[in-house]
Amino acid sequence: MMKRVAAVIFTLIMVFGLVACNGSEAQGRVKKAADLGQSKDEEENAMSLPETQSTEQATPDIEKSNILVAYFSATGTTKELAEYAADILSADIYEITPEQPYTSDDLAYYTGGRADQEQNDPDARPAITGSVANMERYDVVLLGYPIWHGQAPRIISTFLESYDFSGKTILPFCTSHSSEIGSSADDLHSLAPDAVWLDGERFAQGASMEEIEKWLEKNDINVTSVQAESIAAAKVGEFDFEKRTVMLNSGYEMPIVGLGTYSLSDEECYNSVTALLEAGGRLIDTAYMYGNEAAVGRAVRDSKVPREEIFVITKIYPGEQYQNPEKAIQDSLDKLDIGYIYARVIIGTS
Ligand SMILES: Cc1cc2nc3c(=O)[nH]c(=O)nc-3n(C[C@H](O)[C@H](O)[C@H](O)COP(=O)(O)O)c2cc1C
Repeated sequence: MMKRVAAVIFTLIMVFGLVACNGSEAQGRVKKAADLGQSKDEEENAMSLPETQSTEQATPDIEKSNILVAYFSATGTTKELAEYAADILSADIYEITPEQPYTSDDLAYYTGGRADQEQNDPDARPAITGSVANMERYDVVLLGYPIWHGQAPRIISTFLESYDFSGKTILPFCTSHSSEIGSSADDLHSLAPDAVWLDGERFAQGASMEEIEKWLEKNDINVTSVQAESIAAAKVGEFDFEKRTVMLNSGYEMPIVGLGTYSLSDEECYNSVTALLEAGGRLIDTAYMYGNEAAVGRAVRDSKVPREEIFVITKIYPGEQYQNPEKAIQDSLDKLDIGYIYARVIIGTS
C-alpha cells in the first residue's frame, strides 16, 4: 500500500512532454463528447494570436483585449470611471480627444459658449485628434461621456461616425451633475445602427470601482474566453512554480504535481488518488486501458478538493477508439462520472 501511495509522483518530465507535443497531441477541456469540435476551435483561437498593435492611446501592456473602453471626459469625472472599467476588464482604453481642447470658458454652460453651441446644433461634429488602431479587433465597446444638456457631447457623434461598429456590442455609460441618462444613449443608436446597443447607465461623480464592477457584472461584460485564451497563449509553456502549474497551448493551466495511475487498480488507485489530493497534487493521468477510470472518478468525487482544481487526463487509443472518438470520450466520462475531463487526445502513436 505504502509503495502504491508512493506512486504520488512529481510528473515534471511528463509535463514537459505534454507541453512539447503540440503538433501530435491536442489537449482541451471536454465536457461531453459533442463538445469536441468546439474545443478544437477554441484551441485554434488560442494558438493564433491577434495582432499585437493596439489603440494609439491604449494602455501599452494590454494588447490582446477584445474589449475597448472609449470615453470623452472634459473635466476628468468620466475618465476616472473609464479607467476603473478598463482595469477591471483588462481592456484597452481610448480617450476621445478633441482636436481643439475645451477651455473652461468653452465649458461654462448656459453662457452660449462653445459647448452650449455644439449641443444646440445636432449636426455639430467636433474633430477628434488620433484614432483607434484596429477597431475591428474589438467585440465590445464601452462608451463613456458626460451629460451635456441632457445629451452626449457631439464629439461622441464624431466618434461613432468614424468607425464601423457593425456587430459590435456597445455599452454606454455617462456621468452628470444630477441628470439621469435619459435619452442620451438611445439618441446615439442611429449613428451606429448595426451595433448591438445595451442599455446605458449613469453614474454620479465619485462613483466607486465596486459600482463599476457591479454594473459590468449586471451586463455580463467580463474578460471573454477569447481574451483569456489570448492572454494565456502568450504564456504557453511557462511554469509557475508557486502555483505549481504550467500553461498549455490550449490556454489551460495544468497542475505539475500529479499521479500516473498505470497499473493501479480499484482500491489501490482510489487510495493513491485520495493521498495525492490530500498531499496537494492536482493532476491525475488515467486511461481506459488502465481499467481504473471509475476508481479515479470515485476518489475525485469523494475528495473535498473543489472539482475545478483537479485536472484529469485520459486517453484515446488507436483502433476501435479512433473509429469513434466521441463514444470513447463519452465512455470515459461515464466511467469517471466527474462531469468533465481535461482530455489528452492522442492523435498519433509513438
Ligand atoms: C456644457 C455642459 C453641459 C452640462 N449639462 C448637464 C446636464 O444637463 N445635466 C447634468 O446633470 N450635468 C450637466 N453637466 C455637468 C456634467 O455632466 C458633469 O459635471 C460630468 O460629470 C462631467 O464629466 P467629465 O468630468 O468627464 O467631463 C454639464 C456640463 C457641461 C460642461
